[in-house]
Amino acid sequence: MKPLMIALTKGRIEKEAVKLLSAAGIDCQVLADKRRQLVFTEKKSPYHFLLAKAPDVTTYVKHGIADIGIVGKDTLLEDLYGYYEMLDLEIGKCRFSLASVADFDPDDYKRKTIATKYPTVTEDFFQKKGEDINIIKIEGSVEIAPLVNLADAIVDIVETGSTLKENGLKVFEDICPISTRLIVNKAALKRRRKEIFRLIDQLEEEIIERRQRI
Ligand code: PRP
Repeated sequence: MKPLMIALTKGRIEKEAVKLLSAAGIDCQVLADKRRQLVFTEKKSPYHFLLAKAPDVTTYVKHGIADIGIVGKDTLLEDLYGYYEMLDLEIGKCRFSLASVADFDPDDYKRKTIATKYPTVTEDFFQKKGEDINIIKIEGSVEIAPLVNLADAIVDIVETGSTLKENGLKVFEDICPISTRLIVNKAALKRRRKEIFRLIDQLEEEIIERRQRI
């Protein structure tokens, strides 16, 4: 049978994810010396891999190019349908927060402008508060927006908090925790149920062991 194809988010969570997969007994040897290579379909390898940007991981999974995807909950919250979310890998832990310059007043009921890479999460957060806001979509380094008066505040990922600190911004409210998840293509879960659940079981065992080590 064809090896399962795993789409892995490159960058930030890649190293931690490969470490977890390997510890769970999933052979990631092909990724050891990857240089600029992005697709790994070596015949001898028990798993195939592709490396993609987070939003593209869900796209590859939805289209059945990858059977499995490893991607942050932040990305999934912006793209909710078309795959099964199966497991919290308990890595890549961070949170969504509302942040701005020190003199931002979150209780000011004038219509706020919020800059973010995550419009769905932002809309949802303010809707629950009953607040109508104006959203400006920014693709990265969103911390700039309140500094140059493009926006009153930002909704963004906070991990260590150092990016905010270095830009003179502070958190006004935490929105929700984020971690890396395993997602599965809907058809693959039917066709290759046994293999996929075997892999999930292996990962779950390792995650539980890690939890006990803390
Ligand atoms: C994220 C986020 C912040 C930073 C937070 O950016 O947008 O800029 O990480 O991390 P910290 O709290 O540990 O400082 P990322 O590096 O993913 O790139 P991006 O700006 O392109 O989204």
